Amino acid sequence: MKIQSLTHTGLGRAEDGTMVPRTLPLEEVEVTDDGVRIVSPSADRVSPPCRHYKSCGGCAMQHASDAFVAAWKASTVERALSAQGIEATIAGTITSPIKSRRRAKLAGRRTKKGTLVGFHARASDTLVEVPDCQLLAPELIATLPALNALTALAASRKAEVAMTVSLSVDGPDIHIQTEKELTTDLRVDLAQWANEYGIARLVWVDEPVVTIHPPRQDFGGSLVVPPPGAFLQATKHGEKALQDAVSAIVGDADKVVDLFAGSGTFTLPLARKASVHAVEGVREMMDALDRGWRSTGGLHRVSVETRDLFRRPLLPDELNEFDAIVIDPPRAGAEAQVAEIAESKVATVAMVSCNPVTFARDARTLIDAGFALGPVTVVDQFRWSHHTEVVAAFTRK
Ligand SMILES: C[S@@+](CC[C@H](N)C(=O)[O-])C[C@H]1O[C@@H](n2cnc3c(N)ncnc32)[C@H](O)[C@@H]1O
Repeated sequence: MKIQSLTHTGLGRAEDGTMVPRTLPLEEVEVTDDGVRIVSPSADRVSPPCRHYKSCGGCAMQHASDAFVAAWKASTVERALSAQGIEATIAGTITSPIKSRRRAKLAGRRTKKGTLVGFHARASDTLVEVPDCQLLAPELIATLPALNALTALAASRKAEVAMTVSLSVDGPDIHIQTEKELTTDLRVDLAQWANEYGIARLVWVDEPVVTIHPPRQDFGGSLVVPPPGAFLQATKHGEKALQDAVSAIVGDADKVVDLFAGSGTFTLPLARKASVHAVEGVREMMDALDRGWRSTGGLHRVSVETRDLFRRPLLPDELNEFDAIVIDPPRAGAEAQVAEIAESKVATVAMVSCNPVTFARDARTLIDAGFALGPVTVVDQFRWSHHTEVVAAFTRK
């Protein structure tokens, strides 16, 4: 059968509607009981750079060239915009280098022989170890022995544990989800484990059980200790690309509001030139941002506000205090907040989004209110996955 197109999750779609993973448009393929045979490969097919790709489900697009993936991600953005009747220029795709992911979620399990830590195989419970993973930063790969030792301590006999590892200035910041009960003895063992492996902090479900060094993140020269579970851009490279794009859009604005501000990824670098009001739903992130601002010299004023922007968006009168708006909502987008921006007099909006569909919906609202959409930059910090991040300027004509 012939593959016609790719679904938005990267599956090949054949003429008869069959979905065939890891195939590319125009390829002739044969699906047998033993798997998929590529009869005539696409010119965009490459040999996967990672030796784990065959078994590991962590990546979806390693069989395609970087140029193909970049063009495909750009086309998903164009399609989402065109479904809203918006014609946009794609400025380009900025792809994070291999081995640059500084945050990842791995699974761990106890086995008869010891422990297993890795990613799940495609659509399966099987765990695949990934010592030569091409996605993760070397410092993250270096935590695998620590994660195995943690799994031995923290996994029950039956269930898996999920471990989110974020690299920080002070070492790995690890968050574990497990069913196992936290006892006094276990706390002592965990402290010893963290010491032995140079772990900055361990958060057990929602309790920071060990903090050897508060794990700081560097946002444009300001150091912030994000609370457990806080959002963090997936690669430093992607974060920098987004910060540079946002800063170019905001330009010389004196007063900026940063909506869905997280722990200050955009707020703190912007505060080098402008006063910034940061708004975010999680109080602990606002407190962390505030402490980061207070401990950095030479910044303009930063104020913080904990507020649910879905239910209580900033109103036009509040927005009109500012010269520019930065908005970086979660996947659901920012429908309610964008409706208020449309009613405001603010002329510059920098929008960052990890969901092209809600981005396009919110873009429609702004365009209908008289904004023009500038070139859209795709920032691909989710290399070899189907995820796509964008940043763009909206300016009033
Ligand atoms: C994509 S993250 C961006 C964070 C930040 N701009 C950054 O780059 O690190 C979205 C943020 O929106 C926050 N958020 C989610 N729903 C919210 C809501 N209803 N009101 C306010 N903030 C919300 C999340 O806590 C998260 O920090």
